[in-house]
Amino acid sequence: MRFPLSQPTLGGQESENVREAMASGWISGTGPYVDVFERALEQRTGRLSATALSSGTTALEILLCALGVGPGDEVVVPALTFAAPAAAVLNVGATPVLCDIDAESWTIAPEAVPALLTPRTRAVIAVDLMGHPCDYGRLTELGLPIVEDAAQAHGARTADGTAGAFGTASVFSFHANKVITSGEGGAVLTDDPELADRVRLIAHHGMRAGDGYRHRVVGRNGRMTNLTAAVGAAQVDRWDELVTGRLTATRLYDAHLTGHGFLPRPKASWASPSCWLYCVTSDERDATVRRARRNSVDARAVWPALSDLPLYRRYAPRPCPVASAVSSTAMWLPTWSHMTPEEVTAVAELVR
Ligand SMILES: Cc1ncc(COP(=O)(O)O)c(C=O)c1O
Repeated sequence: MRFPLSQPTLGGQESENVREAMASGWISGTGPYVDVFERALEQRTGRLSATALSSGTTALEILLCALGVGPGDEVVVPALTFAAPAAAVLNVGATPVLCDIDAESWTIAPEAVPALLTPRTRAVIAVDLMGHPCDYGRLTELGLPIVEDAAQAHGARTADGTAGAFGTASVFSFHANKVITSGEGGAVLTDDPELADRVRLIAHHGMRAGDGYRHRVVGRNGRMTNLTAAVGAAQVDRWDELVTGRLTATRLYDAHLTGHGFLPRPKASWASPSCWLYCVTSDERDATVRRARRNSVDARAVWPALSDLPLYRRYAPRPCPVASAVSSTAMWLPTWSHMTPEEVTAVAELVR
């Protein structure tokens, strides 16, 4: 038996919605399912506005543009993350400034940010890493726009709210390996109506309905299709089931692995993380990953710290030792929402 790193949990309603969208002829970047999906995301997060977009990366880029970030500007980004936030900053012509992470939460270390600020700093992108929310209380004290990158954190919480509800605006990804998926997809959420309006304007070719091709700004096409939203709309209806499924797998993995040469990823006392992919650390990470893969378990080493990558290390003005340490010891194990206890146990035994 092979255990992939992840797989989507798709059911009859997803198929039914897609068939319905096909039959209706609404297959491009507007349509009833886009509206349904956006309203459901607003309801889930308590945000005033959600705009569904073609990917999480597109959502980050369009949001940065809407915040007025461009050439000459700097944006602080955590040194340990999938590279999309740093790439998005570069793709809008600005410069990422890499910041170390906190050892307790593995999210951007608020106390490390002030030393990185310059007159050109325009925002901080805070990544809820692998489902662990950032310390938004302390980040807000910086007095800068905060972008919450909740791409990996559907269903995570703190006492102050749910992932997607923090910062000036937040971003989700709905890529197939995410807890809630639409295949490819993303969204920007905010409580600021003017910012939401700019996001929509940029994502819709820089024009509004009724503009008659008199474009107001240089836009892009970042829209989510109605076909994609048809899948997403069915997934948000199963939000609790999909989030709970991965948390149940997490608890069982923890029980099987803790004390057998593995440590679960740490968790801050103030956070109720969700699980994107189950993550553990081991001093013998690389050998463990190699052995697991030989045994048909698609275990993976986590990303290298961006501050250690030749492409990005020039953007780290200061050392990022915590990001480097985590990236050399942490690994993911197969995780999906409909994973059975037998499957978790089988993977854990092979890994042990
Ligand atoms: C933290 C983070 N931000 C942004 C993205 C980009 O999302 P997408 O793959 O939908 O473009 C990802 C993707 O995994 C991510 O992990």
